[in-house]
Amino acid sequence: MNATGNTVLVAGATSGIGLGLALRLHAAGNRVIVSGRREDRLKQIVSEHPGIESVVLDVTDPAAVRDVTAQLLQRFPDLDVLVTMAGMMLPEDLHHADFLAVAEATVATNLLGTIRLVAALTEHLAGRPRATIMTVSSGLAFVPLPIAPTYNATKAAVHSFTESLRVQLADTRVEVLELVPPAVRTALMGQEDSATAMPLDTFLDEVMSILGAGRQPDEILVKAVEPVRFAEARGEYSTMLRLLSGR
Ligand SMILES: NC(=O)c1ccc[n+]([C@@H]2O[C@H](COP(=O)([O-])OP(=O)(O)OC[C@H]3O[C@@H](n4cnc5c(N)ncnc54)[C@H](OP(=O)(O)O)[C@@H]3O)[C@@H](O)[C@H]2O)c1
Repeated sequence: MNATGNTVLVAGATSGIGLGLALRLHAAGNRVIVSGRREDRLKQIVSEHPGIESVVLDVTDPAAVRDVTAQLLQRFPDLDVLVTMAGMMLPEDLHHADFLAVAEATVATNLLGTIRLVAALTEHLAGRPRATIMTVSSGLAFVPLPIAPTYNATKAAVHSFTESLRVQLADTRVEVLELVPPAVRTALMGQEDSATAMPLDTFLDEVMSILGAGRQPDEILVKAVEPVRFAEARGEYSTMLRLLSGR
């Protein structure tokens, strides 16, 4: 992905990592379209950051993903980067059946949302001279945080889906990147002030330096995610799982 000159859709950019990345990409000379469900937030972002565009989109709504992306391509035929950032994470207690509502919403948002955006935009992206799909998994794709079982499962699935997507699209000019954040201070799971999560700006500084360094690795990994990302390869999976289990 070129660091500049792209037209980028960040789906899930009304707050946190998505908003932060959108603003950094905008500042780096990209045309950026922010997206999410909260129209008031989108309006505020656009008014505070002239040049940024927005579109309301709920990725759990299949018809909306189809229709809104089709309209978006009319407005921005040069769209060449898709970032599938939209995500949710909530704790689930698997002892009781009422975890199911959270589980289903999590699958619909994190996994189906990613897959639907890829389905809606890949043919267009493959027709561009050069394009990028950046999915967003998590360190928790590689060792689960047991209080959020379905979240971990969706992120492991996003990782796996991304690997296959990259192989299948190798015969196109679409490169496939996977952003794998560690714990970052955002509203996700209410960890804005968590001492164990990375400050958002520090995380974005490191991500932007990786994105700006020419050809990117398939996985965008900041240093802080490496212990969990490589726990299994390093023979530290059980120790990491115990740590994430609070045991
Ligand atoms: N923060 C972390 O520690 C961490 C670690 C690893 C991975 N991640 C991943 O990073 C991504 C961004 O999370 P964040 O930490 O920045 O949390 P966040 O501040 O809560 O941001 C979540 C974003 O997703 C959007 N979203 C949620 N449901 C959506 C839906 N149905 N349709 C469209 N957009 C939706 C939200 O916008 P609306 O509410 O306006 O729809 C918001 O912009 C997520 O995929 C998350 O899993 C985060």
